[in-house]
Parts: sequence; C-alpha cells; structure tokens
Amino acid sequence: MSSLAVEHKAINLGQGFPDYPMNEKLISLVEQYMKSGHNQYVHMNGLPALRNVVADKVNGLYQHQIDPEKEITITPGGTYAIYTALTTVLQPGDEVIVFEPAYDSYIPNIEINGATPILIPLVYPDYKIDWNEVRKKISPKTRMIMINSPHNPSGSVLGKEDIKQLQNIVTGTDIFILSDEVYEHLIFDDLQHESILRYPDLLERSFVCFSFGKVYHCTGWKLGYCIAPAALMNEFRKVHQFNCFTCNSPMQFALADFLNHKESYLALGSFLQKKRDYFINIMGQTKFKPLPSHGSYFQLYSYEGISDESEKELAIRLTKDFGVATIPTSAFYKNSKDDKVLRFCFAKKESTLEAAVERLSKF
Ligand SMILES: Cc1ncc(COP(=O)(O)O)c(C=O)c1O
Repeated sequence: MSSLAVEHKAINLGQGFPDYPMNEKLISLVEQYMKSGHNQYVHMNGLPALRNVVADKVNGLYQHQIDPEKEITITPGGTYAIYTALTTVLQPGDEVIVFEPAYDSYIPNIEINGATPILIPLVYPDYKIDWNEVRKKISPKTRMIMINSPHNPSGSVLGKEDIKQLQNIVTGTDIFILSDEVYEHLIFDDLQHESILRYPDLLERSFVCFSFGKVYHCTGWKLGYCIAPAALMNEFRKVHQFNCFTCNSPMQFALADFLNHKESYLALGSFLQKKRDYFINIMGQTKFKPLPSHGSYFQLYSYEGISDESEKELAIRLTKDFGVATIPTSAFYKNSKDDKVLRFCFAKKESTLEAAVERLSKF
C-alpha cells in the first residue's frame, strides 16, 4: 500500500510510522557520539550502559529487576527480536499459537523454522482473545503462544483477566510465550500495560520484545531489545551472534543517555491518545465507523453497510481515487478474513490527518 501511495501521491495513513519529527536532542546525541569516535563494534549483547538503563526503566515501570548482563540483548528492531526468539526455540513439527489479525512477520517467522502456526481469530469487533478456543487448540506439539499488547492492527489491549487465563493455560506445561510489547507506552484511557515483566511466573518462560523505533518516533533506526530469563537469553544469543552480532554503536550510546529523560516515554500515551481522539473526532465527517482502540497508533474503521467491496479493493480504490492509503485488515490474516475493516495510522501531524479526512469525506 505504501508503494501505491507513492505512485498515486496519496496521504499514507497505511504504514505505521510518524510523520512528525523525532526529538532533536536524541539526534544531536547521535551526532555527538559519532564525532567523538564511538563508531566501532560494541558488545555483542548490546552496549552495557544501554542495557543498564533499560534494566532501570523496566524496574521503574514494572517493578521487576532484570539482570542487564544476562537477561537483555539489544537487537536491530523488534521484528528481529521476534524472529530470533522463535528461531531459538522452534523445531520442525512444533506448533505455535498465533492470534489473528497478526503483525505480518509472525507467520513467516514460524514457518521458516519448520513449525506450524495454529491460527486463532480474535473476536470481532473488540478483538479479544477467546481463551476457550486457546484451550481447545493446545496440543502436545504446542511450543509457544504469541501475544501482542497493545495490539497491531486492532488497538486492543490485554487485561488482568487475560493474564490469569494465560497463567492457567501454561502452568504445568513446557509452553513458551513470546510477548510483543513494542507499543508498551501507547496505551490509553487510563489502562495499565499488563507487561509479562510484571508476572515472574510467566516471565520465566517468555521472550519479551521491544522497539526503540516505536518509542522515539524513529522507526527507521531499527533498534530494539529482547528480555528473557538468563537460560533462554543464553540460547537467544547463540542465534544472534551469527546473524547480526552487534547493533549500531552511536545510536546505542545516544539512547543510553536519552533513556534517562523518562518524560519522553512517560508522556507518549497521552500524546497519542490526543491524536487518536482528534482523528476519531474529525473522522466523524466521514461514513466510516470507528471500532474500539485502546492502544498502539492504529485505529480500525468499519465500512460495513457502506460498500460491498472487499477490504483490498476498497483500500486500493481509496488510494487511487481519493488519495488516502490505508491497510486492509485482511492483510493481517493468513487466509484473508474480510470483516470490511481498514486500518488507519493516526501517528501523524494534525494537518496530515485533516487533509486525509477532507479527502475521505468525499467517499
Ligand atoms: C506488533 C509489532 N511488532 C513489532 C514491530 C516491529 O518493530 P521494529 O520496527 O522495531 O522492528 C511492529 C512494527 O510495526 C509491530 O507493529
């Protein structure tokens, strides 16, 4: 959809990236570290100073002390952390429970390891997990359950009750958990992010993945990290060592400094909640109907009763004829489930959102 957006000069509310500038101070820190000669390989597991501040952050947010030496690895982005975690534990024939719609890398990453994704649809229109369905799909081959909260593309978030259900299901089994928490701060309406890092009994079997790109409005930096108990992280690093080995040095130095500015991540939820509310408010001028979204920077809209076109057909037509690119939610299903829902990214300047809505109101 992004290529189509470029081709038709459409406003791109499809792909998830901010169009407003990132923090100037963080940019100047990178420059400072480059100029002062911090341009060579750093430690394979990530710059120790960065791992230390991440450990402090985790402790402050989730009241859990991780060991920065043994339990965290800096990675080139969240996607890489997810791939590496899957590759660490999966063997051909294993099954992995995946909730759909799902971030697009999950299924290929499972399949490339010879494992089978066991697909469970989130319940439309709230995109909640049907835990009874999960119980039915568990088998002796279940190696892992993948969760993602706040969720891309739906913006749904897991609550305490979901955590309880997950605990009931995995207790007494060898099932691993992969928790994709790249949108940890993008949570709204006074909800608490139920990080796996808050639950020691779950963390002992989990890989928890994060992205600096999502936190600091710099998706193109492709830097993130994975947290896991020492024994699991030890195996994770065996995959990491011969794949990426070590990530971009000056950016790690800059982030190690910048993470001390806690307000820049603590204010993120309210910053994006305002954007969500503004977007929903002006979208009132269009025929689209918003679905509930409590996190991430995505908002789903239903066009049921407005058009019979498939999501893909409509997304293409909106891009070509109305100049606004979105993502058909069917793209997040292996078998293209079509609920007549499109995903919009609202991490944009107000002027971008206004221009898009003006075009969409003609639909
Ligand atoms: C759910 C989810 N996980 C992971 C990622 C990847 O993050 P990164 O850009 O750091 O690889 C994204 C990015 O869109 C995402 O939406």
